[in-house]
Order: sequence, then structure tokens, then C-alpha cells
Amino acid sequence: MTASLAGKTVLVVGGTSGMGYALAEKAAAAGANVHIVGRSVARLTEAKYSITGNVTIHAVDLRNESEVVALARTVARVDHLVTTAADNIFKPFVELSNEDIEAMLTTKLWGAIYLIRHFAKRISPEGSITLFGGAAALKGSPGASIVAALNASMDGLARTLALELAPIRVNTLSPGVVDTPAWDFLPTNDRAAVLGSIGSSLPRGRVGTAEELAQAAFFLMTNGFTTGTVLQVDGGANA
Ligand SMILES: NC(=O)c1ccc[n+]([C@@H]2O[C@H](COP(=O)([O-])OP(=O)(O)OC[C@H]3O[C@@H](n4cnc5c(N)ncnc54)[C@H](OP(=O)(O)O)[C@@H]3O)[C@@H](O)[C@H]2O)c1
Repeated sequence: MTASLAGKTVLVVGGTSGMGYALAEKAAAAGANVHIVGRSVARLTEAKYSITGNVTIHAVDLRNESEVVALARTVARVDHLVTTAADNIFKPFVELSNEDIEAMLTTKLWGAIYLIRHFAKRISPEGSITLFGGAAALKGSPGASIVAALNASMDGLARTLALELAPIRVNTLSPGVVDTPAWDFLPTNDRAAVLGSIGSSLPRGRVGTAEELAQAAFFLMTNGFTTGTVLQVDGGANA
């Protein structure tokens, strides 16, 4: 039976796309008051009208701490905070510019820091924080050096903050490759081939779906005894 989130407030940063969107849908279906955060007003509006339930949208760029401060004032109390936001750039390490690296760090690491800093005292003691890392933290992959370092930073934050912020639960979901709009930077013809080839190398024989990862995030959010955990949901990438 799916846990009820009736009367709970769930803030999904990155809830306009991919795994965040699938989670926002799931939380709304479970009765939560869902707040979705992203930068694109068009994507926010589309999410608001395509998800059934109680959905509020906020155009916020996580890279600006002042915008996160304003968001925290607007959404005064939260039960569950989730952030999927990332700006991943895949290139060989020696080709990465400081601007590339700064863009990645500012969204995923500083974004999570700003959110936790300004929301921790607004999250109910029975509530939770769910961060998104990724399988690159555990297994080397050429072109993913900073992505790997950032994903590992999410794992470290969850383990440490589960102690510092207790009884609030803090976990990281570590996806393997998942078919989401994050892969739309690939030319259409290459996209299916790349995801197909990665999928066929996995024990499950395919890449993941946003819905499968939303199920895992929903578990981390609602299971009251899970904290300080890095949950790998990766089709067996590290088996
Ligand atoms: N997809 C994969 O194969 C994969 C594999 C391993 C790990 N992951 C991790 O899983 C997480 C979710 O990935 P996904 O594929 O679901 O991503 P996605 O479809 O690209 O969605 C990213 C979301 O974050 C929002 N966002 C990005 N930058 C933001 C900013 N500065 N401020 C506010 N919102 C921002 C985007 O909205 P706007 O652009 O409108 O702001 C969008 O809603 C990421 O952390 C990613 O690193 C993904």
C-alpha cells in the first residue's frame, strides 16, 4: 500500500523534469501539498497543469542564495525536501573550463547547501531531506570526473547531516543511467543508441525509468527508519 502524504508539504526542487517530475506526481497522488521549484516558468506552468493534485510552483534559480532565502520565507514549513537539480557537463577533465566546473558546482553542491541551510529549521522533526547523487560516484567513467566528485559529495552530505540534523532524516538516492530529458543534449539519433548501449551492459539489460527512481525517492521520503543511507538504484551497475 502506498504511504499517505495527506496534510504533508513536499518541496521538490527540480520537479519540472525527469525523476523530480515523476516524484512530484507521486507525492501529489499520495495527497501531499506539493511545491515544485525550477527556473523555467514554461516548464513550471506545464507541470502545474499536468499533475493532478495540490501543486504550487516557484521560479527559483538555486544558484542564487537570495532566491533560496526568499523561497524559504514563502514556503514556511516543509515535511519533505527533495532536490534533483543538477547541471552536469560531460567532457574529459583536461577540457573542462573553470566556467564548466563552476556551473556544475554551483547548481548541485551549492544549491543543496543553500537549500539545507535555509530549510533545515523549517522541516518537521518527522520530516526528511532527499538528495540526488549518482552511480558515477562509485564507478569511474571517462568524461564524468566532476560529476563523480559532485555525486560523492551528496553521499557525504547525507551521511553527515543525518547525524547533525537528527531527528530529521537525510538520505541520498544514487541513480544509475535513467532515461530522462537530461539526455536530450544528445542528437536524437545518438540518444537511443547511447542509452541502448549503456542499458545492454547492465544486469537489467536496460537503463532506468524516471518512475522507478521516483518510487525509490518516495521510499526514502516516507520510511521513518531510513536515514544516513545512500540508496543505489542503478540496474546493477555496481554489481
Ligand atoms: N538521468 C540520469 O541518467 C542520471 C544518472 C545519475 C544521476 N542523475 C542525477 O539525478 C538527478 C535528476 O536527474 P534528471 O535526469 O531527472 O534531471 P533533469 O530531467 O535534467 O531535471 C533537472 C531539474 O532540475 C532543475 N534545475 C536545474 N538547475 C536548476 C537551478 N539552478 N535552479 C533550480 N532548478 C534547477 C530543472 O529545471 P530548470 O532547468 O527549469 O531549472 C529540472 O527540473 C540529478 O541530480 C542528476 O545528476 C541522473
